[in-house]
Amino acid sequence: MAQTYEEMDAIAMLKADHRKVEEIFEQFEKATSKAKKQELAEQACLELKVHTVIEEEIFYPACRGQIEEDLLNEAYVEHDSAKQLINEIEAGGPEEDFYDAKVKVLSEMIEHHVEEEEKRSEGIFSKARSAGLDMDKLAEDMRARKRTAMEEFQAGKPAETRTMAGDDVESAMTDEPLNEGAPR
Ligand SMILES: [Fe+2]
Ligand SMILES: [Fe+2]
Repeated sequence: MAQTYEEMDAIAMLKADHRKVEEIFEQFEKATSKAKKQELAEQACLELKVHTVIEEEIFYPACRGQIEEDLLNEAYVEHDSAKQLINEIEAGGPEEDFYDAKVKVLSEMIEHHVEEEEKRSEGIFSKARSAGLDMDKLAEDMRARKRTAMEEFQAGKPAETRTMAGDDVESAMTDEPLNEGAPR
């Protein structure tokens, strides 16, 4: 029997998210109606926004000081490039000339990023596992944050970048949630 999401450790959880998003992108490729495409693109964007939050607030900070700094910093920047496209896709619609292209490029960016995370022995997950992080505790924290993040994003919050010029870059170096309670 396959593990349920509630039973998974941190890495299994994050990998399950990756598989889910890959599946949505595959369905997008096959979809023919504009309405179906939009539904799938928005579903992928929502899943990715929640996933990047739990990685950035919980998983990556736990990795700080335990695995190579460069790997983590690149992951944050890759998230931010993806988030810029995600916000574009969510603000747009399938009647736009570049809508399908944006979704396709997003899926390719995510494919590359997932590879960096899951790569055998060289990837972030594998290094985090070798560093001895408590994957069950992290999973518990991520499951809890996932629920609140899902609510926030379903209510229409856009993705927030952390590493771009003008952003609060420090937040990518700490475990602080972004703009928590701060007036905008
Ligand atoms: Fe990930
Ligand atoms: Fe990631």
